[in-house]
Formats: sequence, structure tokens, C-alpha cells
Amino acid sequence: MIKRLIIAVDGPSGSGKSTIAKLVAKKLGLRYLDTGAIYRAVAFILDESGIEPKDGPDLESELDSISVNLKNTSVIVNGRDVSDKIRNPHISAMASLFSALPAVRQRLLHIQRAQVDSGGIVAEGRDMGTVVFPEAQVKIFLTANEEVRAYRRWLELNRKGIRVERSDILSNIRLRDQNDSSRSISPLIKADDAVLIDTSDLSIEDIVDRILDLIKERVILDDR
Ligand code: DC
Repeated sequence: MIKRLIIAVDGPSGSGKSTIAKLVAKKLGLRYLDTGAIYRAVAFILDESGIEPKDGPDLESELDSISVNLKNTSVIVNGRDVSDKIRNPHISAMASLFSALPAVRQRLLHIQRAQVDSGGIVAEGRDMGTVVFPEAQVKIFLTANEEVRAYRRWLELNRKGIRVERSDILSNIRLRDQNDSSRSISPLIKADDAVLIDTSDLSIEDIVDRILDLIKERVILDDR
């Protein structure tokens, strides 16, 4: 039986996950799944509805009625395209808080797993290799030092015309790292069988080539 190819790419914010996962997906003709965008979109809707980031009946009932659809690079929640509204520091902070709640993670687990189609997928997030796709044939854990990550986030926002102080981004990154790594459910940790790549001083091309080599090695060996 041909297994669906799943490449899991995890790591903290600004480690280069999105750029790299997108390029790897493009090179291999696989679907790219940005799970952070799903968390952000859900956090946006919950925040807009006045739901506090804590467990409770209001959160449960709002989550029950949430529908998420991903179309190319757009995220549609409850029929609304929120793609442009979810990339600001406020939603980054809210997504980090909501994503620590078991009810949110449980609801999103199903949504994320349902995205794998027969063609395979490159899935990017925090717990792809550990929880959502533990069966992934190739698992990559990207990291980079926090100044480099803050600079990359600042550049990304600047290009979109969003002006934010670098020092605010750095504090935001530190806070999110702390939330994402210390939460009791699905914390950001490297899967035992993931390959760690520190991207601080590597070019995007070098990282992509390294991952493509790994995929070739693993997938060919697995097929034997
Ligand atoms: O990758 P990102 O910055 O767009 O993710 C936004 C938030 O969502 C981040 O604080 C952590 C959370 N997240 C998560 O907990 N698990 C995932 N698989 C993806 C994102």
C-alpha cells in the first residue's frame, strides 16, 4: 500500500518554518498546511466574540459552532476570509493563549488531520511531529536564536506595511516561547525522531536542500 507522504515541520515563531515548509511543498508538489493560521483564525473569532482565553461553557459552545476551511493560502472561518486580519501582534498573543487550552487543541486536532489528502502534505506548526502527525515519514524541528527570529518577524510585518517596534516583537516572541513551551498539553518540543536544524546562520536554499536530501533518504529507504 502506498503511504501518504507526510512531512512534519515544527519550531518556534521566526525559525523559518513557513518559508521553508512552503518551498519544500512547492518543490515536491505537495499540499502546504499552515496550522498556525488555523490557530490564529480561531483565536481571532473567539476574541471578536468576547470569549476569554480560559476553559468554560462559552468557549465550548463557540468552538462547537466554528467551521474552518483552507483555500490555497486563505483561511475561512465561519464563512469569513480572515487571512489578512490574523497577522498582527494582538492576534499572535491571543493565539498563543487560546492554543494552550485543551478544548481548543482537541477541536483543532480533527480539523488539522482532515487536511491530509491522497497527494501528501507538508504540515507546519508546533506539534506536527509529536501529536497531530506522529506517523509522519520525515520530521524536522527548526530553531534559531531569538534576536534572529525577532528580526525576521519584523521584516515580514514591515513588508506588509505593519509598523511595530523590534523590541516589542522580541518581548512578544519571548512571551509566546514561554507559553508555547510550558503549556501542559502539546507543548512545543522536538519529537525524538525529528531532525534538528538551527537556521540562525543558514541560507533558506541550504535548509531546503538539506530537507529535500533527508526526504529522499528517508522515503527511499522506507520503500525498500
Ligand atoms: O506559527 P504561528 O506563529 O502562526 O502560530 C500562532 C500560534 O498558534 C502560536 O503561538 C502557537 C500556536 N500553534 C500551536 O499551538 N500549535 C500549532 N500546531 C500551530 C500553532
